[in-house]
Amino acid sequence: MTDHPILRPHAEDASAVELAALAAVDDRPRPPNWKLSPWAVVSYLMGGQLADGTVIAPKYVGQRRLVEIAVATLATDRALLLLGVPGTAKTWVSEHLAAAISGSSTLLVQGTAGTTEESLRYGWNYARLLAEGPTEAALVPSPVYRAMRAGRLVRVEELTRMPSEVQDALVTVLSEKVLPVPELDTPTRSAEVAAVPGFNLIATANVRDRGVNEMSSALRRRFNTVVLPLPATAEEEMAIVSQRVGELGRALSLPEVPDAATEIARVVTVFRELRSGQTTDGRTSLKTPSGTLSTAEAISVITNGIALAAHFGDGHLRADDVAGGIVGAVVRDPGTDTVAWREYLEGVVRDRDGWDDFYAACRQLD
Ligand SMILES: Nc1ncnc2c1ncn2[C@@H]1O[C@H](COP(=O)(O)OP(=O)(O)OP(=O)(O)O)[C@@H](O)[C@H]1O
Ligand SMILES: [Mg+2]
Repeated sequence: MTDHPILRPHAEDASAVELAALAAVDDRPRPPNWKLSPWAVVSYLMGGQLADGTVIAPKYVGQRRLVEIAVATLATDRALLLLGVPGTAKTWVSEHLAAAISGSSTLLVQGTAGTTEESLRYGWNYARLLAEGPTEAALVPSPVYRAMRAGRLVRVEELTRMPSEVQDALVTVLSEKVLPVPELDTPTRSAEVAAVPGFNLIATANVRDRGVNEMSSALRRRFNTVVLPLPATAEEEMAIVSQRVGELGRALSLPEVPDAATEIARVVTVFRELRSGQTTDGRTSLKTPSGTLSTAEAISVITNGIALAAHFGDGHLRADDVAGGIVGAVVRDPGTDTVAWREYLEGVVRDRDGWDDFYAACRQLD
């Protein structure tokens, strides 16, 4: 439609070179309508180097086994539910899985309290419906409908934010692999869309959401659940943050800022200590604030810090470029979180070796 570069290309476009290189060397069996074999899909997500020298960047940092289970599930008749606390890469993983398996991540339903059954089934073009009555041409297919027809993956984001009775529109789709369209029934035949091989569904759900709706047990049985954990170690979390900050910075054309490692280590340390309720050395227990302090938030604190350093600082990322972002992420509820933050600042940060600059920057914000 336009020749301008776009701000955030879909995974299949951003990683087109990697996907093509994997397809070229991939001689393992592919399930029907899959663009790659399960082995190649896992290699795409976990990263590595191919025999021809092509480097595949890691998308998911964590246990390979979890990704293997997710990919294997999608090759069966069960759908995949990615579950976890906010910011554990559920959306990210589902986008890359769809890109690698179906060559497209764009069939997507976003779950909200206002999502209706039509967004999971189909709607109508009312002008045509009035003019022609219910015909196939007047029907507006949902992403689920289109994925069934094409033998592709469809993603349902935040499944449990939808009302339970809307979620249940998926039960027949997932168990029978058909979507009835009663409006198009003829006297002798029921109309339905039957799924083509390659069709499957990836749902994501947050375990910490306010206002979540339970999944019915009938629906839950149609899914294999993979729980994405928070990063196991500080090193792993720092690696995720620095990799994603680099990628985001390039996508946003932010000027290069050297030496981000110190502040990345600092943000990750603060977040992990407050999240777990104790200092890294295990000596001091801490009050845990109400915010999630996720890896995703650490990534945005650093990215914001880099924008500050590049545009208003001397081009080096410093404590006062990240202090505001950290305090903003920690203090969500001004009452209780302020108390937790103060105790941490005065009890831990003030006396920690090499953290004077950060302590001073935080005090300045008062
Ligand atoms: N283990 C990880 N490996 C790679 N990237 C990660 C990891 N954990 C978090 N991220 C990064 O965190 C960012 C946010 O992830 P994402 O939006 O997918 O989280 P989410 O689990 O869907 O959160 P929410 O529940 O809020 O929707 C992404 O940029 C992703 O790259
Ligand atoms: Mg998400």
